[in-house]
Amino acid sequence: MFIKPKVLVTGGAGFIGSHQVDALIDADYRVAVVDNLSTGDRNNLNPQAEFYELDIRESKLAEVFEKEKPDFVFHFAGQISVNQSVEDPVYDADVNIIGSLNLLEQCVKYKVKKIIFSSTGGALYGEADVVPTAEDYPCQPISPYGIAKLSVENYLRFYFEQFGLACGIMRYANVYGPRQNSKGEAGVIAIFTEKMLNRLTPIIHGDGHQTRDYVFVEDVVSANMAMLESEAVDFYNVGTSRQTTVNEVFNFIKKELASDAEPRYDPNAFAGQAVSCLSFEKIQRALGWRPLFDVEEGIKKTVEWFRDKENRK
Ligand SMILES: NC(=O)c1ccc[n+]([C@@H]2O[C@H](COP(=O)([O-])OP(=O)(O)OC[C@H]3O[C@@H](n4cnc5c(N)ncnc54)[C@H](O)[C@@H]3O)[C@@H](O)[C@H]2O)c1
Repeated sequence: MFIKPKVLVTGGAGFIGSHQVDALIDADYRVAVVDNLSTGDRNNLNPQAEFYELDIRESKLAEVFEKEKPDFVFHFAGQISVNQSVEDPVYDADVNIIGSLNLLEQCVKYKVKKIIFSSTGGALYGEADVVPTAEDYPCQPISPYGIAKLSVENYLRFYFEQFGLACGIMRYANVYGPRQNSKGEAGVIAIFTEKMLNRLTPIIHGDGHQTRDYVFVEDVVSANMAMLESEAVDFYNVGTSRQTTVNEVFNFIKKELASDAEPRYDPNAFAGQAVSCLSFEKIQRALGWRPLFDVEEGIKKTVEWFRDKENRK
């Protein structure tokens, strides 16, 4: 009988990682998860996955590889806050660079067939003057978070050249959807939805005209699956090529919740870059992937999930 490959998912109790685990299990892969639950949640864990509560920086990671002998690795675990990376670049580099190197060493030792890494588009290209921005746009990260993501991309190229470790680098736009943590600074859709459901006033940084490229988590998971099942060793944007302002996001959520909330504008708060939007032409050409959810539809699904979560409390 054909036994499906084993996939190790770091950060599999987190937002994107847990959806990836579900999709892998639905496709009959065998799955093991490594997560230290720092921002992840036990409730996100698929019961069919083997779970190791562990930090990716720990030497005990070797024992997980010895036991599981994964064929493939998805690497989602990381410090995800740009602000925290600015406040504490050493911690950010420790988790995002050193932790990733610890993982790559094990991947080489146990002859992993491919590692798929969660990188970022927005934090690498910055305030690009070509929009939607393609992969050949110069990477000039201005935050330690972006610098660490680009460093890991470069290490992956080194590990491929030196040891033949195949890799897929996925540069996500702004991912949103069910299970996103509304506690952090990222994930404006999760933050606004939870505020409105609790009758609290959402705060919009700046004037709300800044745009982002919002990609629904199910689309991100399908791009990752396409990468897993392809022979390609390459780097791809995963976005929608569509810009949406923060004000529009606010209004979509407000409509979905039939809410009468009004935002409070904080003109002095750091609003980030004015524009961020990724071209998906390259991944469409190479893997035949394109996003299937437009932002209104994705927000509808996300709001439904947060509403159910409130009702379960
Ligand atoms: N959400 C986005 O819009 C977005 C955009 C670009 C890139 N990414 C990247 O995608 C990945 C997943 O992000 P997410 O939005 O699902 O965030 P998340 O916080 O929900 O997931 C990260 C997971 O990693 C775990 N983790 C953190 N540090 C760890 C450590 N040292 N050892 C073991 N586990 C650890 C956390 O507990 C959590 O479960 C991250 O690498 C992030 O940088 C996310």
